[in-house]
Amino acid sequence: MNLRSVAEIENNKRVILRMDLDVPIEVNQVVDNSRLKKSLPTLRMLLDKKNARVVIIGHRGRPEGRDEKFSLRPVYLELVNLLEDEGDLYETVFIENIEDSDRLARAINTNHVVVVENLRFWKGEEENDAKFLDELVGMTDAFVNDAITVAHRKHASVMLFEKMDSYYGLNFIEEIEGLNKAIENPVKPVTVILGGAKEDKLKYLDEISKKVDNVLLGGMMPIFVEGKTMASNVEVAKLKDNKLDISDDSIKSFRKIIEKAGTIIWAGSMGKYEDEDNKRGTMEIAGAIAKSKAYSILGGGDTSAALRNMGLIHKISFVSSGGGVMLEYLAKGKLAAWK
Ligand code: 3PG
Repeated sequence: MNLRSVAEIENNKRVILRMDLDVPIEVNQVVDNSRLKKSLPTLRMLLDKKNARVVIIGHRGRPEGRDEKFSLRPVYLELVNLLEDEGDLYETVFIENIEDSDRLARAINTNHVVVVENLRFWKGEEENDAKFLDELVGMTDAFVNDAITVAHRKHASVMLFEKMDSYYGLNFIEEIEGLNKAIENPVKPVTVILGGAKEDKLKYLDEISKKVDNVLLGGMMPIFVEGKTMASNVEVAKLKDNKLDISDDSIKSFRKIIEKAGTIIWAGSMGKYEDEDNKRGTMEIAGAIAKSKAYSILGGGDTSAALRNMGLIHKISFVSSGGGVMLEYLAKGKLAAWK
């Protein structure tokens, strides 16, 4: 696949930029802005073009209709801070209602950066019915997708590439290149490690187990698959009595498989790593990956937070922002976000 880079956009364009705006917020303040920082080079590249106007769109959480708890206003304020920290002064504005076309038109005409409220406040977003975006599309010239974590979702804002002159952001392209190393012609044997607490990861298990050499299940996955028959290359961890970490025997057995791997793909911690008593599995698996010569990729916010806390994140070859998107790409070999 050939993803046209944002670098190719010409001057004098009004551009829609789809970003990963789904960041952790506490008491109306962004507490981890790393996803925003990842898109700053793309945003900056757009703003450096002559007469550029950028309309940033994205989602936050899984609201059911308009719900102020999920507003993107705190994310907008954090973005403005980040831009100011870099010493540039831009006219910026936040738009609550994307369907208020007069206000939207005025905002685009008089600001460099317009940030639009959470798209999931409109049901057309998740239903891939882009009518609510029509006015915005009519006022702009090009679409840039830099939101890797939803690249597998057939949502209206992801599918805008079908309606507009389209490009991909620097973060998006870097993520796909990192994932491709593990997915197209990976060094064998390939080992996938699935853990964490989100059961929906298991929907990829069948397809993934057919494509790779070994699948290791830790975290809460052994509880979810209890009583189910697994393919012969899937090893389900035994858990400790408290069920909050994998057992010593499973650590030993997982380590042996990891030692031999040529490529390792990891999504989800091995236990409740926040507890001193239940972090051993995750630490040991991270340690085994750190020692191995395999190309390793890690996906998902929680697992990377765990490894960051343990000071082991630099041992991973490539850290992807997305968990679900990585597994979907591995299982299906393509994503909704391009043709
Ligand atoms: C994420 O946090 O991984 C993205 O925002 C995707 O969220 P979703 O699973 O609600 O689509």
